[in-house]
Amino acid sequence: MIVPRLDSALAYGGDYNPEQWPETVWPEDARLMREAGVNFVSLGIFAWSRIQPTPTTWDFAWLDRVMDLLHAHGVRVCLATATASPPAWMARLYPDSLPVTADGVTLHFGSRQQFSPSSPDYRRHAAALVRRLARRYARHPALATWHVGNEFACHMNECHGEHSVRAFRAWLKNKYKTLAALNDAWGTAFWSQIYGSWDEIHTPRRAPFISNPSQLLDFRRFTSDAFLELYRMERAILKRATPEVPVTTNLMAFFKPLDYRAWAREMDFAAWDAYPDPALPDEGRHWSAVGHDLTRSLKPGLPFIQMEAATSAVNWRELNRPKPAGLMRLQSLQALARGADGVMFFQWRASLSGAEKYHSAMVPHVGAERSRIHDEVRRLGAELKKLAPVAGSTVRARVAIVMDWEAWWALELEARPVRLDYMATLHAVHRAFYAQNHAADFVHPEADLSGYALVVAPVLYLLTAKGAAKLDDYARRGGTLLATYASGIVDEHERVVPGGYPGLLRDTLGVWVEEWAPLGARFTNRLRFRRDRAARSAAGELSCREWTELVHAEQAEVLATFTDDLLAGRPALTCNQVGQGRAFYLASGLDAAGWDALAARLAAELGLEPPLQAPRDVEVSERVDAEGRRHVFILNHRHEPVTVSLAALRGTDLLTGRRVAKRIRLAALDAAVVAADGA
Ligand code: GLA
Repeated sequence: MIVPRLDSALAYGGDYNPEQWPETVWPEDARLMREAGVNFVSLGIFAWSRIQPTPTTWDFAWLDRVMDLLHAHGVRVCLATATASPPAWMARLYPDSLPVTADGVTLHFGSRQQFSPSSPDYRRHAAALVRRLARRYARHPALATWHVGNEFACHMNECHGEHSVRAFRAWLKNKYKTLAALNDAWGTAFWSQIYGSWDEIHTPRRAPFISNPSQLLDFRRFTSDAFLELYRMERAILKRATPEVPVTTNLMAFFKPLDYRAWAREMDFAAWDAYPDPALPDEGRHWSAVGHDLTRSLKPGLPFIQMEAATSAVNWRELNRPKPAGLMRLQSLQALARGADGVMFFQWRASLSGAEKYHSAMVPHVGAERSRIHDEVRRLGAELKKLAPVAGSTVRARVAIVMDWEAWWALELEARPVRLDYMATLHAVHRAFYAQNHAADFVHPEADLSGYALVVAPVLYLLTAKGAAKLDDYARRGGTLLATYASGIVDEHERVVPGGYPGLLRDTLGVWVEEWAPLGARFTNRLRFRRDRAARSAAGELSCREWTELVHAEQAEVLATFTDDLLAGRPALTCNQVGQGRAFYLASGLDAAGWDALAARLAAELGLEPPLQAPRDVEVSERVDAEGRRHVFILNHRHEPVTVSLAALRGTDLLTGRRVAKRIRLAALDAAVVAADGA
């Protein structure tokens, strides 16, 4: 159980902000929570100005009463450290604690998150607040976990103010020790950028033209570290007071500014906020799946918590569509299917004032009685109790997709052959495996890859020698590696590895790349499989997109060639036998159909089987516990009924309590969670 002391093993609840309400509302909140099966709430995330109205006055009495009330109703608390948004007095007393943009604009008080991560005054006051909270509630029976800050860097994700500049210099000194080393790493001989003094180095402010890419990359690293330092500062205080209480924060999955791998090491369990857009053609189901899979992968072998979601519409998109009846439930079951041990929402009760009053909630403006949404909230609470046996189990993926924040940062710097979108590319690769119900993890290139049948490394533009050695070793020991275009181009300083791309992966892949031919929107090409030349089937020819390359196959066998443009007849897909394994190289971007075809081909060759052969738009995901017990989630994303063949799967659907075998019929947006017989 990742959240300790829950009455039923899965966590259910949401952000609870009682400070927005008169105290007379609280007893009703607690009663409704109990009736809805809520057992866990995130409390006090934005309560700093209520707890510390002036720099020298503190008011915990109200929070004591809330904690006691929740405890009396069996609700455990994920107690926030309340440091997410400093009070007005902070901006008044310490204007230099406010963040500054690359253009030199100060972001002022009046919204939220207006602090520089490097401000000593913010840090000092935040630490004092956390110390008091930790001391006061360390032994409170309602306390289950700590919630540090909130969505770090969500709105304000870099700062160029005086404290940040100083901290950046200190960070660089610590990293490079000498100016000569920094000048070398940043290639400052180019455009007369050689630094003669540390004081000349600034954060990368707005400049006339393309900025130094190595400086930009280091600034990204520094910024992620600066926010992480805040988290670690708070975590250290909390762990001193309550070593046994888990500490976490709410991540945002594919969030570029923060290297969540480094963050996850400091978190007792991973958590993320899932806001799929119901206006997307698939209602956001793949967007959610890929976020769940990344979050799960951050703490291998451990469940995670979906810390926030919307019960229906959000209020911050251009168009804020509600979720149709049943979708919130299905999305919650999807989170569990992909490894979550709890689903939480923003927020418990819809606000009547403030910036987020038109955001849906577990108790909407109309109240609990006449609300479709609240009915669904209650139903979900009851169902989660039935799913308790799932808690603690995990998803075991055979496919891994390499994902590295540093590669992301570097790939998307300025002055590239064409703008490549790292996240969109990773999502496209993942979507193909997802659509075929093959579970996939996201891994760092330096991770242990030995358990995977297939490792896909898409656009892994920045690669360290260690990462390259790991990928090579994985393939040589019998793995199947698929690396794509624009991989292995630069080292950790954003310096090209000379001697032909993809630099350090050349021997593994058995190819070298001489030139790039990006396609953009105007140019097209196709990739034709050699053996299927006669067939001209969908699998025989794939459309290229975005990018193609002039490849020289050395040891590698050419499986497919380009049909047109500058590269007609040249290799497009190659395979190198390396050691016990194989290393494929794909020299082109693909559309969705192309990735589907390639994923299906590789899965078939490797004998990878999804938990069930399901019809389109039926998601299947399996969780397995330490004893080998299996729970198969079958989720019908269609707005019409569907019949799914269960093949050899037999067991009990935990949602209905019924025995199932042979086939199962699911209503529109319905699901089954089959506890499989045997094992
Ligand atoms: C984020 C924040 C919440 C709230 C929601 C609204 O997840 O953490 O405080 O603003 O968005 O969707």
